Amino acid sequence: MNKTNGKLMMILVSFTSKNGSTAEIAECIGKEIAKAGISCDISEMKKVTSISNYDAIIIGAPFYMGHIMKEFPAFINRYHAELVKLPVAAFAVGMAPLSNEPGSVEHAMEVFRRSLQPLSPVTTILFAGRLEVQKLSFISRKIIKLVNSPTGDYRDWDVISSWTREFLDMLNEDKTG
Ligand SMILES: Cc1cc2nc3c(=O)[nH]c(=O)nc-3n(C[C@H](O)[C@H](O)[C@H](O)COP(=O)(O)O)c2cc1C
Repeated sequence: MNKTNGKLMMILVSFTSKNGSTAEIAECIGKEIAKAGISCDISEMKKVTSISNYDAIIIGAPFYMGHIMKEFPAFINRYHAELVKLPVAAFAVGMAPLSNEPGSVEHAMEVFRRSLQPLSPVTTILFAGRLEVQKLSFISRKIIKLVNSPTGDYRDWDVISSWTREFLDMLNEDKTG
């Protein structure tokens, strides 16, 4: 499972995050990969200088004001020639899963998929995030009040872990199948 062409498998988990919740999701994913006995690096997108050592990549970013954080498409743009050749799993983070408005998750997923172009990840998912008002700037607090967004920590660590395991299973099937 943890070898490709005789060498140890290595996965990169790369993310961007403004208020830390996506960074913690990336850490949770990294722990799950380590539990499976696979080596992995966890790195903020802006700190990544090369992806040539990796056999697979998990990328993630949060939503702000209807958009995925701009570092995410910038990362894809920077590395797309290599990324299109690798198995990629992608996650977005936001409060859309908690919205009562019909179609809000579908809309968020559509925006997310567009931000992924030209990649076709083997799996994409939208995780519920964390919004803690006391950690936000004055402007962000005003916006949150205006759009009446739910606040709190809605990250589901079991969902995050099992999505990671599913991706590892897919990598395994890809090699053995
Ligand atoms: C000012 C502001 C705008 C936001 N806009 C959206 C949005 O458009 N859609 C969404 O699903 N979540 C939105 N969120 C929720 C964030 O995506 C969520 O808090 C996420 O967990 C933040 O990730 P981070 O802690 O890694 O920065 C917004 C949060 C803030 C503070």
